[in-house]
Amino acid sequence: MSESPAPLIRRGGRGDVPFLRDMVRHAFYWRWGTPEGEHVPASRYVEGWGRRGDGSVVALESGLRVGAAWFRLFPEAAPGYGFVDESTPELAIGVVPSRRGRGYGQALLEGLLEHARVEGHTAMSLSVERANPALHLYERFGFRPVGEAGDTLTMHADLGSTPEPRLRGEGQDGM
Ligand SMILES: CC(C)(COP(=O)(O)OP(=O)(O)OC[C@H]1O[C@@H](n2cnc3c(N)ncnc32)[C@H](O)[C@@H]1OP(=O)(O)O)[C@@H](O)C(=O)NCCC(=O)NCCS
Repeated sequence: MSESPAPLIRRGGRGDVPFLRDMVRHAFYWRWGTPEGEHVPASRYVEGWGRRGDGSVVALESGLRVGAAWFRLFPEAAPGYGFVDESTPELAIGVVPSRRGRGYGQALLEGLLEHARVEGHTAMSLSVERANPALHLYERFGFRPVGEAGDTLTMHADLGSTPEPRLRGEGQDGM
């Protein structure tokens, strides 16, 4: 039996924005069972893509997108769920349901954290529910809880302590 090939990860570009929109719906669906959150609209994670502080990576299988991870700087007046401060980008990630559990999430995180380092970011934050299996993935990459609200954790990672990347291929986020 042959081993499956290592996931192919490339930088995202403007052409990937509709796919990011789909992936953010998956992340919100996990949390709320609905595409919209109670306090933060899902669109906030994607709208006006390409502004300063935006970065993304996309996972491909047979040339088709199967997942994406991205970071974004939010203003304090319109924060994301995992907001820490205006200079710490917040992470979002999603893999299409039929391709989960095959290593794409891990490969996307590796690629995204390297992308963030190259852009000069020294930390990243995120928001996750305690019951989401993605929590273990985040812990492996050095994310630690820095806040909680009900069942939701805000996590923070120092990018200096994350594993070495395996990023292949580059697109352009227009930054
Ligand atoms: C979280 C997510 C991006 C992980 O992607 P993935 O490609 O399944 O991840 P990997 O295969 O690299 O596995 C990493 C971890 O994801 C979890 N995972 C694996 N298979 C999974 C599945 N079918 N469904 C959900 N999570 C799964 C496991 O905890 C795994 O950790 P482990 O190696 O300790 O078992 C993906 O499950 C997803 O899109 N979930 C819905 C959206 C979401 O919750 N986003 C995060 C919001 S904070």
